Amino acid sequence: AGGTPAEALHVDRFEGAWIRISVVILAVFLLAVLASGFAMGVQVPGVYQRIDPRTLYDPGSPFANPGLRELAPGKYELYLRAQIWQFAPNEIHIPAGSEVTFYVTSQDVQHGFKIMETNVNMMVLPGQISTLKTRFDTPGTYEFVCHEYCGQLHHTMFGRIIVEA
Ligand code: CUA
Repeated sequence: AGGTPAEALHVDRFEGAWIRISVVILAVFLLAVLASGFAMGVQVPGVYQRIDPRTLYDPGSPFANPGLRELAPGKYELYLRAQIWQFAPNEIHIPAGSEVTFYVTSQDVQHGFKIMETNVNMMVLPGQISTLKTRFDTPGTYEFVCHEYCGQLHHTMFGRIIVEA
């Protein structure tokens, strides 16, 4: 404050250096976000829609009779219901090379849904349908687990996806 206009614009040498360093750090973070999102396929789970948990078993609800549905050759949707302490269904068979869109909701408390060896990792909340899409190219068994603590038998809440050659 004060002094001539030239003095008011003066930036200390070290302050200037730190400003440049912080701009570089921000640029690095932005590049890392773009690289992970676009180049490495890391994706954020989306909220597909809201749903009243009391309506999960209503006639016509996809969660009343959850499971795999083929939309087109190689394209599937999978409706999955989480509840204490299991997933329905808890074993799914799909052909290798399939693209699967997951729709997952909870009928009671907060659960998690993580498929090992994939980038599918979601929170599962009552009242919300969480969605993610992934491809299964390599045949094998992919375990999925609940990774949000949901009570006494949380550790028994798992299932598997069997990708068939
Ligand atoms: Cu469901 Cu932990």
